[in-house]
Amino acid sequence: MASRKQNFKQNQHLAGKESARSAPKSGVNDASAQLGLRDGQSLELLKALHILTPDGRINQDSRRKLKQVNHLLQFIEPLLTKTLESQGCVTLVDHGAGKSYLGFMLYDRFFAARHSADVNGGQAAGKVIGVEVREELVQRSRELAQRFGFEGMKFVNSTVAESKAQIPQKIEIVTALHACDTATDDAIAFGLKHGAQHLVLVPCCQAEVAATLTKTKKSALHNNPLVELWRRPLHTREFGSQLTNVLRCLQLEAHGYEVTVTELVGWEHSMKNELIVASLRDAACAGNARQASERLQELLAQTGLQTLQPRFFDVAL
Ligand SMILES: C[S@@+](CC[C@H](N)C(=O)[O-])C[C@H]1O[C@@H](n2cnc3c(N)ncnc32)[C@H](O)[C@@H]1O
Repeated sequence: MASRKQNFKQNQHLAGKESARSAPKSGVNDASAQLGLRDGQSLELLKALHILTPDGRINQDSRRKLKQVNHLLQFIEPLLTKTLESQGCVTLVDHGAGKSYLGFMLYDRFFAARHSADVNGGQAAGKVIGVEVREELVQRSRELAQRFGFEGMKFVNSTVAESKAQIPQKIEIVTALHACDTATDDAIAFGLKHGAQHLVLVPCCQAEVAATLTKTKKSALHNNPLVELWRRPLHTREFGSQLTNVLRCLQLEAHGYEVTVTELVGWEHSMKNELIVASLRDAACAGNARQASERLQELLAQTGLQTLQPRFFDVAL
């Protein structure tokens, strides 16, 4: 049980910060239920993130974003719990963080209560690090984290690719929600380099594979009837998008991860809806990794994408 001295320190720690967990006022529970909020989710934080208007309303776009992020939290929270239980702390890096909706909502639900109960300055339970290339978004997120007293949140103003050098410590979980184009691939490379236990990815459009298919399809068509699958420009784009995610999954499997692919939310909520969750297996599964690695090489060769080998194959293998 916490001593009076500990409670005093804890209150001091929160003094002057806007508490995201202020006591519910009348009507708040009704509003939370109507918005589909989860237990303990702070209305004040959602207003500060501009997901809710100051009077607690929500528009269609924000409702979609809220639904996506809340759904994603359901996948991430068990991974955080498992990691915390096994090693006492957890660091999650969110790439292409944007306004950091995911990071803030995750921190609010998962870390804030644990940190405010921690008398050692809020470091024990872990950290959420947002990586974002747009400086104004990083600045805004830093201010918001300070306003809510979220001391375990950090923000790095960098591209995903360059963030590797700036985040040298051990990372357990990597997330990337709609990180643009090849930023998802850079997030995978980051996770592999840091030996992340889990990666949770909802890719955005990726143009690189489709552009390479466009270059190679004419010469490949005469001896490979499968090229019909991506001969027409619309199909090149669609097939390129699917192939990109297939290559990403094989890449993760080749590095020893177990991969599941599902829908994040219904297609009516987002067109970019593929959720890839990868978790590191134990060393006994090396055979699966070898097979995935061979498949990955074959697939790159058969689709004329050998030039993309450094993107999907060579990273840290
Ligand atoms: C579509 S937004 C998604 C933001 C957030 N993850 C979300 O779902 O609300 C993509 C964000 O990734 C950032 N971004 C794009 N490419 C990046 C890169 N290579 N490195 C870091 N951030 C990048 C953009 O500036 C933008 O804020």
